[in-house]
Amino acid sequence: MATRIGILTAGSDCPGLNAAIRAIGKAAVGSLGMNIIGFQDGFQGLVNDLTIPLEGNALSGILTLGGTILGTNRDQPNAMQVNNQEQDMTGAVVDTYHKHKLDALVCLGGRETQAGALHLSRAGLNVITLPKAIDNDIAMTDAAIGFDTAMSIASEAIDRLHSTAHSHHRIILVEIMGAFAGWLTLGAGVASGADVIAIPEIPYDAAKIADTILSRNQAGKRYSIIAVSEGAKSRETADFFEHSMQINEKIRSGPERERVAGILEKIEDQLIGNTLHLANRLELYTSLVTRITILGHLVRGGTPSSTDRLLATLMGTACVRLIHEGHFGVMVSLRGADLVPIPLDQVGGGHKPIPLDHPWIESARQVGTCLGD
Ligand code: F6P
Repeated sequence: MATRIGILTAGSDCPGLNAAIRAIGKAAVGSLGMNIIGFQDGFQGLVNDLTIPLEGNALSGILTLGGTILGTNRDQPNAMQVNNQEQDMTGAVVDTYHKHKLDALVCLGGRETQAGALHLSRAGLNVITLPKAIDNDIAMTDAAIGFDTAMSIASEAIDRLHSTAHSHHRIILVEIMGAFAGWLTLGAGVASGADVIAIPEIPYDAAKIADTILSRNQAGKRYSIIAVSEGAKSRETADFFEHSMQINEKIRSGPERERVAGILEKIEDQLIGNTLHLANRLELYTSLVTRITILGHLVRGGTPSSTDRLLATLMGTACVRLIHEGHFGVMVSLRGADLVPIPLDQVGGGHKPIPLDHPWIESARQVGTCLGD
């Protein structure tokens, strides 16, 4: 009997997902005579058995299309919103997998999806994943689908902000997605010559950023562009959470310590308005007119770059080869120039922050970019 593959996209969308779906479908059906079926809206599609046919013409004309034709959702199999309550729906996922007599399930997604896929692999399903992340924050892979496109969009935005900042002699802060890792902001910032780049990995000192801006002004450069990751924090904020964690460690133990640590982490992760706060402080310190542009979801929309289409196609076809060989419980990962299977338990849901000695950081400093420290 022909091999039957199920496929879903979970977590946030990004450009390049459709290119990957197309590659998997064409390689599986066209080259190897497999059957393929799409599930709607991430793991929810498996829970509710909502399918999308992917055979015939369904895969034509989607290579350059943004988003995902399958729809997506952030819920995890073991933590799904049902009637406004979080429930473990692993059993329903397993039932649907068997109902469709699947031989493999392909999950396209970010860090949380990799963790969800590992969970399903441990529940006995033949799972294989592809990494997608505009934040480029998935462990054990050098690249993720969507990052290149998002970086190009952010970079073009910074280019455009330069001319208006220059004409008005203003400070413009541009906030770019990246709650836990600064790859997108650093990459776009370096590529477009941002004067200051603030990323989560390097807590910033607002006074030092203000000094950089004032020095530029004294040198006749009467405008400054500050690229800020949405997760960038001031030194004071970072110290506050670090000290609160240390105090929690000292004064509590057992489940209470865990509970309070969880609350502190949640508050830290959900901090919003950092960019506005930084803008206000810079205006105060420098007396220069300051504006903010939040790129938000703009960097996740539209046509994928050729680099992302190529990566998605290479990863999609590599995925089908692995299915054909019966290789499961892995993520298709780019390591150097090679696409290799990495066991999902090595990927987990962990972060991939920028190492502080990374060449991008060193080069940014060498061309005189202030990183806020
Ligand atoms: O994970 C990708 C990402 O775009 C992050 O950069 C951002 O913090 C988050 O998703 C936004 O999530 P949502 O689309 O659910 O608002």
